[in-house]
Amino acid sequence: MKTEYIEYPDLSSDKGKQGIARAGEIIRRGGLVVFPTETVFGLGGNALDSDAAAKIYAAKGRPSDNPLIIHIAYPEEAGKYTEKSELFDRLAKRFMPGPLTVVLPAKPIIPKTVTAGLPTVAVRCPSHPVAHALIEAAGVPIAAPSANLSGSPSPTTFAHVKEDLDGRVDMILGGECAIGVESTIVRLDGPDSLTLLRPGGITPEQLGEFARVTLSAAVLDKLKEGERVQSPGMKYKHYAPKTPLFLLRGDSEARKRYLLRQSGSFAVLAYTEETEFFRSLGSSPVVFDLGAGDDPGEQLHRLFYVLREADKVGCERIYAPLPATDGLSLALYNRMIRAAAYQIVQAD
Ligand code: TXA
Ligand code: MG
Repeated sequence: MKTEYIEYPDLSSDKGKQGIARAGEIIRRGGLVVFPTETVFGLGGNALDSDAAAKIYAAKGRPSDNPLIIHIAYPEEAGKYTEKSELFDRLAKRFMPGPLTVVLPAKPIIPKTVTAGLPTVAVRCPSHPVAHALIEAAGVPIAAPSANLSGSPSPTTFAHVKEDLDGRVDMILGGECAIGVESTIVRLDGPDSLTLLRPGGITPEQLGEFARVTLSAAVLDKLKEGERVQSPGMKYKHYAPKTPLFLLRGDSEARKRYLLRQSGSFAVLAYTEETEFFRSLGSSPVVFDLGAGDDPGEQLHRLFYVLREADKVGCERIYAPLPATDGLSLALYNRMIRAAAYQIVQAD
């Protein structure tokens, strides 16, 4: 199919408003629109239309046992699609609109194709103005996974979306993804307890002010053979560049010593303050700036972008520092160990 583009949707102009109205109509009629959110780009279709959901899985090449998040314009609308929960209301008041997804028992109006047959559905209210305007224009909730082909890093730029989905969707809307990794996902377990299924821009420390937080085992580790998955997305190899990625455990000096001993062609994802050192070594390694070492927010913002770009230089290996696991770094750690297929090396 021929994909239509609006690279810079301008919500303040008539032309921009007409574009969004058209995108909303495409969704309402069962088509697919890629749109920016504050986390990553989403591949959207009408969440109340089973055929639209089937098209999403096909466009992404995604296994149909991995359910979709539904995106709503206002948190108050969640009750139309899920059972009510006071804990949801408290979380919504603090974190929505924003990068938090909540898993709740689904109402029958949500098609089984969206929930992959689970009794629950994941709900999120994005804060990105284009995402918000699109949901309003569509007049229906929008089911949207990240807009990558299944298995590759989620796209955070218009160019990266085009690389994956040009010709596979009806329309692509451009924009900025301020956070750069997918939303935090929680499942509500009781009035005061929740399980963190996927870390993101809302940290366990922030959630801890509202409920007792249990980390799903898959957040920090590889699932063991035969272990039950709480969030189906956790069982697939994820976010991975095609080039093998290795994570280096050790401080900056240890990582530099280790990398100086490596031969062959490789790329390094380095903290900003380390880039000059690696660049001074000449053409190999190829160096990518992951953001300041003390700024996990900036690293999150850049992670998927640099993973995709590092993959394009055609090196044998990519090296990156192993992140910490506190605060925002937990989301980095969670994505990077998957991208690296759990290959962690001690640098000395
Ligand atoms: O930031 C985000 O969340 C982005 C943007 C587009 O909103 N969306 C996103 O969707 O990351 P996706 O499909 O790539 O990841 C959704 C994850 C999957 O791992 C899926 O298994 C999990 O959410 N999930 C969806 N419904 C679930 C449910 N009912 N129970 C447990 N996990 C669920
Ligand atoms: Mg995804």
